[in-house]
Amino acid sequence: MSVQFATYPSLTDRVVLISGGASGIGADMVRAFVANGARVCFLDVQDEPAEALVRELS
Ligand SMILES: NC(=O)c1ccc[n+]([C@@H]2O[C@H](COP(=O)([O-])OP(=O)(O)OC[C@H]3O[C@@H](n4cnc5c(N)ncnc54)[C@H](O)[C@@H]3O)[C@@H](O)[C@H]2O)c1
Repeated sequence: MSVQFATYPSLTDRVVLISGGASGIGADMVRAFVANGARVCFLDVQDEPAEALVRELS
C-alpha cells in the first residue's frame, strides 16, 4: 500500500534552515521540506549522519 502526503506548493523554492537536521525529528523535517521543493540548509554536530542524509537526498 502506498501512502500519500499533502504537498504545499507555497514551499517551492522557499529557503528553510533546520537545526539538528542530521537525525531524528530534524532529519524528517529536512526530508519533508525537500519533498515539498524547498531549498533546505541544516546544521548538526554529527558529520556522518549529516553526510548520509545529503547523499540520500542528492
Ligand atoms: N515536546 C515533545 O513532545 C518532544 C517530543 C520529541 C522530541 N522533542 C525534542 O525535539 C528535539 C529533537 O528530538 P529527536 O528525538 O529528533 O532528538 P535527536 O537526539 O534524535 O536529534 C537531535 C539532533 O540535534 C543534533 N544536535 C545536538 N546538539 C546540536 C548542536 N549544538 N548544534 C546542532 N545540532 C545539534 C543531534 O546531533 C541530532 O542530530 C529534542 O530536543 C527533543 O527533546 C520534544
